Amino acid sequence: MQTETQIPKIFEDVQDFLPINGTDYIELYVGNAKQAAHYYQSAWGFQPLAYKGLETGSRDRVSYALRQGKITLVLTSPLQAGGPINEHINKHGDGVKVIALWVDDATYSWQATTQRGAESALEPQKLTDEHGEVIISGIKTYGETLHYFIERKNYHGAFLPGFKSWAPNYRPAEVGLQYVDHIVGNVGWGEMNKWVDFYAKVMGFTQLVSFDDKDISTEYTALMSKVMTNGNGRIKFPINEPAVGRKKSQIEEYIEFYNGAGVQHIAVATNNIIHTVSELKKRGVDFLYVPPTYYDTVLDRVGEIDEDLEELKQLGVLIDRDDEGYLLQLFTKPVLDRPTMFFEIIQRKGAQSFGKGNFKALFEAIEREQALRGTL
Ligand SMILES: [Fe+2]
Repeated sequence: MQTETQIPKIFEDVQDFLPINGTDYIELYVGNAKQAAHYYQSAWGFQPLAYKGLETGSRDRVSYALRQGKITLVLTSPLQAGGPINEHINKHGDGVKVIALWVDDATYSWQATTQRGAESALEPQKLTDEHGEVIISGIKTYGETLHYFIERKNYHGAFLPGFKSWAPNYRPAEVGLQYVDHIVGNVGWGEMNKWVDFYAKVMGFTQLVSFDDKDISTEYTALMSKVMTNGNGRIKFPINEPAVGRKKSQIEEYIEFYNGAGVQHIAVATNNIIHTVSELKKRGVDFLYVPPTYYDTVLDRVGEIDEDLEELKQLGVLIDRDDEGYLLQLFTKPVLDRPTMFFEIIQRKGAQSFGKGNFKALFEAIEREQALRGTL
C-alpha cells in the first residue's frame, strides 16, 4: 500500500499535520442492511467483501461491507430494540454515520485533532484477529456524523477485525466506479463557516473554492458552498448551507427530513461515465432529469469534448470546463426514502473543479423534484 510520504502534497498552504492516505470506508446506518446490501450489489455493482452479525458473534448489530474500486461501503443495522443505531435511524432515516479516513497513525490522528478542539467519538483502540491488528479512533463532525481514523498497516484480513469474509455466489458485475471524489455535507443556516473553520483548524485542511448565493441560485432557491481539502487532495469535503431564496432550497429540505446536518452526496469517480451511467440506468438507478435544451448550447460554453454529445444527451450527462480541462457529471435522485442522500457520478478529464457551470441547470432539475414532493 502507498503511504502518505509517497503522495505529493499539492496544496502548499495546508498545515498538513494530519496525513491522510484516502477514504477508508463510508458507513451508513440503515433500517435493513441485508436488503440495502442487495441494492448496492445489484444496482451499483459493489462486490461482497465482509460481514459481521449473529453468526460471527455480533449480538447488537449486523454489518455488510462491499467494495468497488477503492470505494468501500459498510451497511449497518441494529439487531435489537433501542440503542444508538435505532435512535439514529429513527431521527435521520438511513444515512451516513461514519466517514472513515485511512491514516498511518490513528493514535496520533486522534491526539492531533482532539488537541485542536475536536470532540472525541472513540478513543484509540486496538482491534485484533488472526489477520493482524487495526488501530481505530474517532472524532465528531457536523450533525451526528463521525470521522474514524483507521490504521491498517499491520492488518491483512478482508476488512476489519470482527468481520468475516463474505463470499456469496451472487455477484452482479461492477459498473466502473473507481474512488470517492468528494463527500458533501449539508449544515444549517449560518453554520457553513463554523465547519469550514473546523476542517481548517482541527484537521489542517485548506479551502479550495467558495461559491456564494450568486453562483448557486435559480429564480427560486439558493445555497452557499465552500470546498475543504486535505494536503494531498485525496479528501475533499464541500460544505453547503442554505441561502435566502423565494422558495425553500434543497438544503432546507434535506435539513428538515434528516433532522439536522449530515452527508448530502457522495461523488464517485469513473473513467467511462457513458458506460457507468448506462449500466446504472439499466439496473434501475434513477437520475435527475436534464432537459434536452441543455445540450443545444453546452458546447458553446465548454468547447470541444472527446465524447459523442448525442450519447451524453441520451443519458443526461452534464458537462463543465475549467482552466485545467473538463468534467462530466450526473446526479442520482435521493437513494433513500427521505429526500436526503444521493450520489454524483463524475468523470474528470483534467478539470479539478465541481461543475459550477452546471449549478443552475442542476438546481432547476432538483426544484422540479421538490415541487413533486411538495417541499419547494
Ligand atoms: Fe458534488
